[in-house]
Amino acid sequence: MRTVYVNGEFVSEDKATISVFDRGFLFADGVYEVVSVLDGKLIDFGGHCGRLRRSLGELNMVFDTRDDELLDIHRQLVEANGLKEGLVYLQVTRGVADRDFAYPPAETPATLVLFTQQKTLLDNPLAESGIKVATVEDRRWTRCDIKTVQLLYPSMAMMEANTAGAHDAWMVRDGLVTEGSSNNAYIVTADGTIVTRDLSSLILSGITRRAVLGCARELLMTVEERPFTVEEAHAAKEAFVTSASKFVVPVVSIDGQPVGDGTAGPVARALRKAYIEEAQRFAV
Ligand code: PDD
Repeated sequence: MRTVYVNGEFVSEDKATISVFDRGFLFADGVYEVVSVLDGKLIDFGGHCGRLRRSLGELNMVFDTRDDELLDIHRQLVEANGLKEGLVYLQVTRGVADRDFAYPPAETPATLVLFTQQKTLLDNPLAESGIKVATVEDRRWTRCDIKTVQLLYPSMAMMEANTAGAHDAWMVRDGLVTEGSSNNAYIVTADGTIVTRDLSSLILSGITRRAVLGCARELLMTVEERPFTVEEAHAAKEAFVTSASKFVVPVVSIDGQPVGDGTAGPVARALRKAYIEEAQRFAV
């Protein structure tokens, strides 16, 4: 049984409760972050706090817990659960109010929930074998830059991909790949250029993306941040995805067609290694 955090208290998961009137429950009126934990330490905590503040700001959500308090809560939760490797999930919602489309008064206290999830991140077998993806239509709203808890479409996209025999979906808008169901998407072209969609309201600005692109530039790899087509993806030499829970994971097949020689490629391997080293160096 895990210890979870709900509105100021650390409680056993079977004792944790949220109101049925919570706006997160009724309207998906909430935002979240997922921070990975390696060796009991938090990876890129500052980056995740920064994006949380931005998501809250875009939704005019009032949340008065400071970053240092959030760090403290994360650390206490990791400690209470003896978590060595895995994830910390954090969710903030606009709180509890009578059901009404208009936001409740700004002084309505936000709901804050955190829990941990044990997960093998370093020795992930998919980092060796790679994953298969299937392209599906991107039917999400056009504020994908805000990390909201309305995840039904990404969940449907993943199920569609699973039905097609793939591990995950690559979502496509107007013939151009946006991102994976819960990760950023990359291809490596014939000349070795890493291509990933540029930041806009159509994708989430991944915290892992930023760090991995930094590693790529340090390794003197060429990076182009621009949209790419499904055809370019099918013709790519390599492909991969990044996220807090995957780090860097190679993509070995797209829509049933092998990418390159159909095995984990050297660019994805080098970036996974470089990213993990850097992440551990700056872990808190
Ligand atoms: N997902 N794009 C989407 C749509 C995501 O949901 C995520 C993260 C990312 C990668 O962001 P980051 O590198 O900051 O994890 C990109 C998290 C892990 C999740 O929902 O579990």
